[in-house]
Amino acid sequence: SSIKSTNIVEVHHHVTCEARADLNRHRGGVLWLTGLSGSGKSTIAMELERQLFNKRWQVYVLDGDNVRHGLCSDLGFSPGDRTENIRRVGEVAHLFAKAGLLVVTAFISPYRADRERVRQMGPAQFHEIHVATPLDVCEQRDPKGLYEKARRGEIPDFTGISAPYEPPEAPELRLNAENCTIDRTLTTLVAYVERTFALP
Ligand code: PPS
Repeated sequence: SSIKSTNIVEVHHHVTCEARADLNRHRGGVLWLTGLSGSGKSTIAMELERQLFNKRWQVYVLDGDNVRHGLCSDLGFSPGDRTENIRRVGEVAHLFAKAGLLVVTAFISPYRADRERVRQMGPAQFHEIHVATPLDVCEQRDPKGLYEKARRGEIPDFTGISAPYEPPEAPELRLNAENCTIDRTLTTLVAYVERTFALP
């Protein structure tokens, strides 16, 4: 196995997870957005963060483009690198969730098995949200011009073009951002979060 840390003994916190939730008036947890490049993950995540913050929630977005500048700057887009990217981000998301935050992640996370592994990391609640914008719509938007580059063969292993995307089979929530305004999508999401994570 790849586990090299031995002789490790867990240290216990004196602040319980219930005490943190009680202070924040909501539980910590992970809201895992998955979808194609250009599907709207970052836009949705950042707007959700703003709206929940305004309601005094402890919330933080982890976004692919940002994390890949730091924590994962050594990783590219091969299947193995994407798996490692999602593993690291999953661990960080669960740490933040244990610290009491609602973590919203915005990664393509194209592999079902990788997302399943993050779900199993626990103990925080993990909710998978599929940003289900179809490929042709994402390609039409092409906000960063990446699809055009990928079609010209200038980006190898581009998700949806020359690399796979495995949609979730049973996500906790599916957003059809395509025929929904950003406002309506956000209303749905905020209601979902309050129902799922707010304390009574
Ligand atoms: S992954 O698959 O979850 O590890 O990807 P992620 O960390 O979310 O990073 C996706 C962003 O990286 C840019 N990019 C690519 N995406 C897909 N395939 C390839 N080959 C690629 N190369 C660069 C792209 O800007 C993605 O951003 P989003 O916001 O998803 O469009």
